[in-house]
Order: sequence, then structure tokens, then C-alpha cells
Amino acid sequence: MLRTHTCGELRSTHIGQSVTLCGWVAKVRDKGGMIWLDLRDRYGITQLILEEGKASAASIEAARKAGREFVLKATGTVIERLAKNAKMLTGDIEIRIESIEILNPAKIPPFLIEDETDGGDELRMKYRYLDLRREPVRQNLLLRHNVSKETRNYLDSLNFIDVETPVLIKSTPEGARDFIVPSRMNPGQFYALPQSPQTFKQLLMVSGFDRYFQIVKCFRDEDLRADRQPEFTQIDCEMSFVTREDILEVFGGLTKHLFKKIKGIDLPEIKRMSYDDAMKYYGCDKPDIRFDMKFVELTDLAQGKGFPVFDSAELVVGIVAEKCAGYTRKEVDELTDFVKRPQVGAKGMVYVRYNEDGTLKSSVDKFYTEEQLKEWAVRFGAKPGDLMLILSGVADKTRAQLNNLRLEMGTRLGLRDKDKYEVLWVLDFPLLEYNEDEKRWFAMHHPFTSPGDIEAFMKYDATSPSLGSIYANAYDLVINGVEVGGGSIRIHDKTVQNKMFEVLGFTQEEAQKQFGFLLEAFEYGAPPHGGIAFGFDRLCSLFGGQESIRDFIAFPKNTSGRDVMIDSPSEVNPKQLEELSVAVAIKK
Ligand code: AMO
Repeated sequence: MLRTHTCGELRSTHIGQSVTLCGWVAKVRDKGGMIWLDLRDRYGITQLILEEGKASAASIEAARKAGREFVLKATGTVIERLAKNAKMLTGDIEIRIESIEILNPAKIPPFLIEDETDGGDELRMKYRYLDLRREPVRQNLLLRHNVSKETRNYLDSLNFIDVETPVLIKSTPEGARDFIVPSRMNPGQFYALPQSPQTFKQLLMVSGFDRYFQIVKCFRDEDLRADRQPEFTQIDCEMSFVTREDILEVFGGLTKHLFKKIKGIDLPEIKRMSYDDAMKYYGCDKPDIRFDMKFVELTDLAQGKGFPVFDSAELVVGIVAEKCAGYTRKEVDELTDFVKRPQVGAKGMVYVRYNEDGTLKSSVDKFYTEEQLKEWAVRFGAKPGDLMLILSGVADKTRAQLNNLRLEMGTRLGLRDKDKYEVLWVLDFPLLEYNEDEKRWFAMHHPFTSPGDIEAFMKYDATSPSLGSIYANAYDLVINGVEVGGGSIRIHDKTVQNKMFEVLGFTQEEAQKQFGFLLEAFEYGAPPHGGIAFGFDRLCSLFGGQESIRDFIAFPKNTSGRDVMIDSPSEVNPKQLEELSVAVAIKK
């Protein structure tokens, strides 16, 4: 090796030793007779000192030439540092250099390679390899490595085996658009990149593998957000001969194992909530339960008193912001503006101040007596000093809007501490959702999820509204309001699976064409099975205390789905398209 030590490992116990380090120049200070260089590698930074007369003339010259990010090899003796730096792990020592060799010069980097950089997002993405030299980004990838390692350790200890599934496949309906790849050898035909290995992991259960996992790339052509990338990674798992309870046990166990190993946190028993309760009390299927602020319904109390907005609403519902009665007019107006933003979509907001002196004052005093407002306060469980915030309208939309307001208040009141973790299983999702525009049912999870009540499910046909009341044998893992994982017990019976395709509007021929391989596999001894997939990038970003998953991916895409470093996607040579018969496929 070119080096004897790394730039992060030398301590006062090494004083007197002769060492050779390699790394990148983080900083140079030239004070005439003395030159100091900070040398950085992935392990840390070590200070080098060159004294005119003690180091060779060639080394002094090399040190003077070295600019930021030059790659150097430096040999010298570890000495005690006069001005120690307690903030650096190597801050007790420095290296008195005898010789320096420039291994490679470097251009001046386009942004500062320091913890706090001056580079904007796009610039850092263009030079991602330089961004990855920065400590915080490097730490994120280290964390990712550790989460991957601990996941493998845990699953391996429980007999799960890692099996790779293909990347060039056929569309699997997970709800997003597919990325497709033309096939040169099969003109006019396309592969799809997997949105998940769903059907393959089920086939592995038919093969008898009984416990499968894979840390696997998935591809979804959907609009990007902070927690979404077009290619992302799942911890994908499947088990045979299990009930929902077994899955919750094993993967609750994985979650606990990771919290312990990565964060040093002993998680308590993971809480559970039904989908119906999540929607009723939090207005979303992934509630952030780091804080309470549950929804309180007021429809019966608020209607019939002459306030037309409430009278015409399907639902009147609110939250209590504790100790916020003293909000200024401006602060309350800001909240009203917040709910009226197009992204939230409310028409307005009603508020009631429960003043410290016990009086109640609302934005709808014209319609309600103080006595009536008092009844609201009792329903809310509000105390003097609290502020009640109320929305109304069509039930689902109002709940979704109030969810936004609740999260906003949680943020404003500092109740969403990134170092506090609340883990939750959300259970009993509806199996199907009716889409009014398309006039058909959609699978809420995916079409392979088993109904909770198979007998009831088999009785209905696609026209039956009762299908909407059937629960799925499905579960989501939610951490701090982020959907980290989702899965289900699967259908393993051909008749039930066929019925599911029928209900989802597939003709027999279409179902056969798209999923004939799975339906056939179910005829060769398919065991009862179920599984789950964790969003690996999301899990890492939660452990790292950040909302965006981008910095936990070595080479991510930007918000337009572009890799600005390699400039992709990009146009291809027409000849290549010709070979792939893409034009022929379009004409067809
Ligand atoms: P699902 O579609 O719920 O389930 O995906 C599982 C988890 O993957 C993560 N995830 C994403 N992360 C980053 N970017 C994206 N675009 C993205 N999309 C999803 C989420 C999500 O909870 N085959 C089923 C799993 C199963 O049933 O076993 C599936 O893929 O954290």
C-alpha cells in the first residue's frame, strides 16, 4: 500500500512513529518558513507541517504547489501538536513532513468541500463525486452501508435467503408507470423494469424457498418528491406458511434490530392503528404520532345554527393547538392562508380562542353564542389558553386538508423532533378503491393482496358497492409520518386471484396474457404466503434525520428525474432506434 495509516487514525500514542499518509488537500497555510497542510481522506483529516530546512527542498516546493484537492503522498514523523484541536480526532498530533509527492494535481473545485458548502443543489449534483467527499454526505452513505449490513445479518439469522430477480421483466401493476426497454432481438416488443419484484418473490414461495429477501432496485416512472426517486431501493421480503401476525412479528423485529444497531435505541412494542382510525383521527393513512392533536368532529354541534358554510358541509372537524390562544391576528391569518394554498385547497378556516380568562372568542361569533362555543371546547377537550382550528366541507377532502394543517401546526410548535421516533403499524386497509372517473375498482395495495374475508369477497361482482367494505389483509409500517414499508398476505388460490382480476376489470384473456404465469403457478402447489417491502432509502433518511432521500443515494436523480452529472436521459443515435425497431412499434 502507498500509505501506512489513514488520515483519521493517528493519536498521541503514535508520537515518534514514522508514517506515510495519502489524501486530498483540504487546506494550505503558508507562513513563509512554515507550511501547514490539512490532508483529508474518508477517515478524517490530519495536519501536516513542513519546516524550511527540515523538509527536503523538493517537498517544500511540492507543498507550495499543492492547491485544494491535490492528491498527495506525505511521509514524516508524528509529533505532539502545540495548539491542540479538541474538535478533531487527530487534533492532538501533527506530522512533521520529510517528503511530499504530488500524486495528482486538481483543478479548483466548483464549491467548498467542507461540511457547510457554498455549492447549490444542482452544482453539487453535477459534481456529485466531489460532493461525496464532504463529511455529511459520506456519513449518509456509511449509514446506508450499515443499515444494509444489519438488515442482512438479521434476515440471515432467521434463514432468509437473498435471491436476485431479473431487471428486464414484464409490467407488474404497483400503481405507477413502467419504464420500458425495447428489445432488439424481439422487434416491436418491450421489457418493463420492475416496479418491485412482487410476482417473482411469490413464485419463489411456490418454489419452496419459504423465506426470501433482496435489497433490490425498483423503478417507477412517477412524479418526484423529496421521498421519491424514479429508481429506489427496497428491502423486499416474502415468507411462506405465515399469518399477518407472524409478518408483523418478524419485520417489527427487523425494525427494532435496526433501531438498536443503528441508533442505539430500544424501541418499545410497535403501536398499531386501523386504517379507519388513522383516517378519522389524523386524516391520512400514515399519521405522524410524535404528537397528539387528534381530529375532533363537531358536525352535530356546529350545524343548524345558521352558519351556511357549516350547515352545507358533510363534515365539520377541527384540532386543538395547545397554548395558542394568544396567536396574533397575523399568525391566525397565516394559518388561514396556509389552508387556502392550492396544495391544501380549503376555502377557509374557522378558529375559536379559549382565552386564559375562560372567555371564548371565535371568527364566527355572529352565529354561535359563547355557551355553544363552550360545548365545542368540551368536545375538543380544550383548556383555557388553547386555540381551536376548524375546517369543513366534503368529508375526505376536509380530512386531508386538516391533516396538512395538523402537520403544519406540529412543525410550528416544534412537536416533530427528528430525534424522536414513533413507529406504527397501520392495519386493515380497504382492499379496493372505486375510481369515479374511470368507473372501476383499483387495488389499494396491489392485485395480489388477499382480502381479509375471502368468502365475502367471492360473493360480489365488479358492480357491487359492497366490495368497498372489504378489508385487505395488508399492513404499512409508518415512522414519524413516513410510509417506510408496506405489504400483505397474498392470494395463493387461482380462483380467488382470477376473481380479483375480474373485479379489477381484466377480461379473462387480459388476465391470462399478463399474469398467466402466476395463475398457472398457483396450480402447482402454492403455499399460503405473505411479505413486505421496506423503502430502504426512506429508512436511511429517517435514521439520518433528513426528509430528502437524495443524500442517502450515491448518485441520485434531480427533481426532473435527470442525472445532471452524466446528463441522462439523453437522445440516442437514430441508428440505435432503428435497430430497436422503436418506430415500427409506434406505427403498430
Ligand atoms: P409499495 O409500493 O408500498 O409496496 O413499496 C414499498 C415501499 O417502497 C418505498 N417506495 C419508494 N421509495 C422511494 N421512491 C419511490 N418512488 C418509492 N415508491 C415506494 C416506500 C414503500 O412503503 N411489492 C410491494 C410490497 C409487498 O407487497 O411486499 C410494494 O412494492 O417506502
